[in-house]
Amino acid sequence: MANDDLKALIRTIPDFPKPGIQFRDITTLLLSPAGLAACIERMVAATDGPVDLVAGIEARGFLFAAALAVPLEAGVLLIRKDGKLPGATIAEDYALEYGQDRIAMHADALAPGARVLLVDDLIATGGTARAAIRLLRKAGAVVTQAQFLVDLPDLGGAAALRGDGLRVDALVA
Ligand code: PRP
Ligand code: ADE
Repeated sequence: MANDDLKALIRTIPDFPKPGIQFRDITTLLLSPAGLAACIERMVAATDGPVDLVAGIEARGFLFAAALAVPLEAGVLLIRKDGKLPGATIAEDYALEYGQDRIAMHADALAPGARVLLVDDLIATGGTARAAIRLLRKAGAVVTQAQFLVDLPDLGGAAALRGDGLRVDALVA
């Protein structure tokens, strides 16, 4: 499946969740067996080196993290909205394109030096991904790469991560 065909499976809903936001809705791509398979195959192929864990960001990032972790022979680390994880957590605040939030992970989820691939469905301002990277590094992870299905380049998030020296890959821009 060509990249343009993947892009065509993602629809844009205007003014969701707030006026002025062009919401990229990936649920239509998830409904396509061929689209979903193409996404996962390409993300696996774009993975740089072996990883111990794939960290997925709630909620849509979880789908890609689990699907990638199996072929990569890695575990899945959940980065959740604050207040959802049962064990002792570490947390980070961040600003979203449409609000403010706080994410958390279990403080004992990884061994220092673990190689972690960060995955989410979309990067916009990069606030969420940067908070996730701060969290993972605070726990002792080596963040090897960040992968997204969609990049919204006008919002500058992927460029900011690259500017910090991280390898960033996205399938659709
Ligand atoms: C969306 C998306 C990313 C984040 C990207 O999640 O899944 O996690 O926004 O935005 P940013 O690059 O500007 O930080 P959202 O917070 O809407 O949560 P959801 O996946 O639970 O819907
Ligand atoms: N997360 C942040 N901005 C978004 C957008 N425009 N569409 C979908 N998810 C988003």
